Amino acid sequence: MKILSVEGGRPLEGSIRVQGSKNSVLPIMAASLLAGGETVIRNCPDLSDVDVSVRILRHLGCAVRREGGAIAVDPRGMDRSDIPDCLMREMRSSVVFMGAILARTGFARLSYPGGCELGPRPIDLHLSALRELGAEIDETGGRIICRAARLKGGMVRLATPSVGATENAMLAASRAEGETLIFNPAREPEIADLQDFLRKLGTDVSGAGGPVISVRGGGPTGGAEHTVIPDRIVAATWLCAACSAGGRVELTGCIPEHFESVTEAVEALGAEVKRGADSVSVRVKRPRRAIRPVSTAPYPGFPTDAQPILMAALLRAQGTTQFTETIFENRYRHVSELRRLGAEISVDGTQAVLRGVKELRGETLTAPDLRGGAAMVVAGLTARGETRVVDAGHIARGYESFDDRLCALGADVWIEHKGKGTYEDASQPDQPAAFQQARRV
Ligand code: EPU
Repeated sequence: MKILSVEGGRPLEGSIRVQGSKNSVLPIMAASLLAGGETVIRNCPDLSDVDVSVRILRHLGCAVRREGGAIAVDPRGMDRSDIPDCLMREMRSSVVFMGAILARTGFARLSYPGGCELGPRPIDLHLSALRELGAEIDETGGRIICRAARLKGGMVRLATPSVGATENAMLAASRAEGETLIFNPAREPEIADLQDFLRKLGTDVSGAGGPVISVRGGGPTGGAEHTVIPDRIVAATWLCAACSAGGRVELTGCIPEHFESVTEAVEALGAEVKRGADSVSVRVKRPRRAIRPVSTAPYPGFPTDAQPILMAALLRAQGTTQFTETIFENRYRHVSELRRLGAEISVDGTQAVLRGVKELRGETLTAPDLRGGAAMVVAGLTARGETRVVDAGHIARGYESFDDRLCALGADVWIEHKGKGTYEDASQPDQPAAFQQARRV
């Protein structure tokens, strides 16, 4: 088990380059199955979810090489169409391999995906999109078996603009015969990034970011090279960390318009913000103030992934801020933990009301999921004394060297590994089960 500790009270100061996007690189790695040759994906973040995708690709028979932030995938040796349960369980994005495997081999066998527990996360829209393209799908005993001798273009109408279902539909459609139209698709920047990658593979696809995506299926034309977009949720996290700790932070290598809704919130709470072409800087002096109600929404609305993190940045702001979570049913699991620091937050269904307090005191908290864990660290930056975040392995699913980067900005953060119990330990089998390492930078 990994424990991340933070001693609060130090302002952040410095510049930080935003890592590549987790939610872009994972579907793009799945899409690399559709190439006719080697693809090279650059700006890949070093995350445990990326490691899982590499293991899935290798299991399927692909040759995968990693050099720094580049991952080269050659799918020509692919000789399997299944994903083992243990890999499916490790992350939500394992499910986007379904459309790509089916498109490539006409058959896919997998199970239900894991990932953060944010309430029910059905995959009915993924399955109905694939059925619309001609797949026969059998769901029995937790197994999903998809068959399609030939996929055919169709009309996919998504009741909700699901990110994963849009990706699965795009992947399957890019090998289907004829045109597919996807109505009410997700408009997140990661969808446009997947579109760019598929175009490089020779697929005729357009409309990402708008109300309808059109995909004309065709065979692969070879390999491709692609650079993944910067991670807008990580960028949002650094802004919120600066607001919590105070200080001055410059983000570089980012696309400011991708997280403008978060930047506006940060500005409203009292940060001075300067936007550049590919940078954003914030300067935060106390006192911070409560902001207008925040309601999560599909892009370009306020991202659900940033909700816990903005909440953490507002814990000591003067006044009351109201949150409404509209995407996931159970996305306030961080609240009970933040209260243990002295935060005043009440939750009623989809609503949370946060009343700023004068002081927070460090405590031992447990990360419930990836963004909830990051929120606890952001809160710990402004708490008196030491905040320990247990199960911090969740954070490594989405943040590259989170502790080192915070330290580089002047925070007092360190990591301990204890015992067994997370997927991270499985990748470090040599480490003794008892206390392994304590590092203080
Ligand atoms: N939904 C359905 N049926 C489906 C699919 C989704 O009802 O078949 C519902 C969900 O229950 C949810 C809503 O649609 O209420 C949106 O879910 P979506 O499918 O868009 O989410 P996702 O694809 O599972 C991705 C990100 C999440 C992010 C959401 C929303 C990846 C790997 N994950 O999940 O990211 O919160 O979109 O923006 O892209 C994270 O990075 O921490 C994270 C959880």
